[in-house]
Amino acid sequence: MSDVFDVVVIGAGPGGYIAAIRAAQLGFSVACIDQAARRDGKPAPGGTCTNVGCIPSKALLQSSEHFDMARRHLSEHGIAIKSVAIDIPAMIGRKDKIVGQTNDGILYLFKKNKIRFYQGRGAFSTRDGNRWTLTVAPTGIAKETATLSAQHVIVATGSSPRALPNAPFDNQYVLDNEGALAMQSVPKRFGIVGAGVIGLEMGSLWQRLGAEVTLLEALPDFLSVADDAVAKEAAKQFKAQGLTIHTGINIEEVKTNDKEVKVHYRDSKGAEQNVVFDKLVVSIGRVPNTQGLNAEAVGLKLDERGAIEVDDCCRANLPNVWAIGDVVRGPMLAHKAEEEGNAVAERIAGQKPHVDFNTIPYVIYTSPEIAWVGKNEQQLKAEGADYRSGRFPFMANGRARAMGDTRGFVKWLADAQTDCVLGLHIIGPCASELIMEGVIAIEFGASSEDIARICHAHPTLAEAVKEAALAIDGRTLNL
Ligand code: FAD
Ligand code: NAI
Repeated sequence: MSDVFDVVVIGAGPGGYIAAIRAAQLGFSVACIDQAARRDGKPAPGGTCTNVGCIPSKALLQSSEHFDMARRHLSEHGIAIKSVAIDIPAMIGRKDKIVGQTNDGILYLFKKNKIRFYQGRGAFSTRDGNRWTLTVAPTGIAKETATLSAQHVIVATGSSPRALPNAPFDNQYVLDNEGALAMQSVPKRFGIVGAGVIGLEMGSLWQRLGAEVTLLEALPDFLSVADDAVAKEAAKQFKAQGLTIHTGINIEEVKTNDKEVKVHYRDSKGAEQNVVFDKLVVSIGRVPNTQGLNAEAVGLKLDERGAIEVDDCCRANLPNVWAIGDVVRGPMLAHKAEEEGNAVAERIAGQKPHVDFNTIPYVIYTSPEIAWVGKNEQQLKAEGADYRSGRFPFMANGRARAMGDTRGFVKWLADAQTDCVLGLHIIGPCASELIMEGVIAIEFGASSEDIARICHAHPTLAEAVKEAALAIDGRTLNL
């Protein structure tokens, strides 16, 4: 006997659980399947984001920033502390507690919205017209196999870390994100392959706690996804913090013995280099999770990257099958997955939602934080666009000086003819929060003049955002 639902979601990450909640709000009977289990076997909904991604990384980054503040900056405020020590197992324990609370919160939301949750591995089984039968193989503390019948299936199975060829993750010496977030002591020599978002966040975190961090990046330019001026400032700041970053490298071999890991690579000049680390994180991107779904047997089409192929509305090639988040094209970000989950549920209900990739904000939670939305200057140049830019440094912002963090700047880009905002790029304190001004501006088709004429509270970091907008017209007031 099948349990019958209007909508079944496979995966309870930020894409899947939001899709399930929105579908339930719209009046559908909904089930959500997730295979993840906690150490004690209880369900661990929330996906990569909750368990081994966004939330735990930000918990540890916060702890390490407090440590750094206590060790190096509190004295500037006249606060004397005789000695500062970090208890890594306690820090990891705090992070684990936050993860557990978030898992519980999602289980509560399922209950509140009358969503039936199945702990197990979901797979497509058969199709009867436009209805699907799915199987759930139990995981964790679940014992029963289940068969579900669904009018609509939303696949939200996320992604997994990509390993280097011939260097599988052992989470002992060669670590993925899960291993990097669970270390019980600070490695002395800490290597990271890939100076992308995970590499920079993990590098900053463990460097603040005392590790000697070396990042090995394949691309010739550092942080080429960001605006050039931001990437340049970031490189300067990270170097000053003590991060060693080598770009243009080519990893040739990774070898582990029972105490360390040896990396053999060619540097940007082609010279052979050998370096030894106590731990090596490999953060070179992620691959979509489609194995075990029985995708091939039912004819679910994948693209050349192995992601589920979908149209602009997240419709897969099979009737009533949808896919969202990291398992499809587009940026691998929790908020992108959430927006797609919301939109698919509304589309199933006959509504016409829209997810605009141009207004998705990007944030890197280093110190200083880096955030951007819309186009960057090198993209506009390549397009031959006629644009103007305005920049304002946090050094000239009163709140930043009061806080004691004046690193970085705000930079707006706007169309030279219409003054419409094209992009906002920030490196500096609270960039992750300030970036929303740019998201709203682009969403509402605002001009830089609109931003410049909005009354911003004083003293706030947001005044730097207003001043950078004034700078487009050469009218900064505080510089
Ligand atoms: P996931 O979160 O990966 O969830 C997929 C779920 O599906 C998992 O729970 C998995 O167990 C389950 N599943 C898979 N296959 C099956 C199956 N066959 N049956 C049942 N269940 C299945 N993004 C941000 O926006 N901000 C950040 O700060 C951020 N930090 C990150 C830090 C790290 C270290 C990492 C690794 C990622 C980070 N991300 C961040 C990215 C973010 O975690 C992902 O983009 C997001 O989790 C994708 O959501 P999703 O719902 O598509 O998939
Ligand atoms: P990434 O795409 O951000 O960075 C990977 C880096 O590795 C790139 O710079 C790439 O050039 C480099 N690289 C690739 N192959 C290499 C090789 N063989 N040798 C050396 N360098 C190599 O991917 P990352 O950091 O693994 O993160 C995965 C995903 O998780 C990202 O898509 C990101 O969006 C998401 N994430 C988001 C965060 C946030 O929003 N703050 C935080 C952490 C992850």
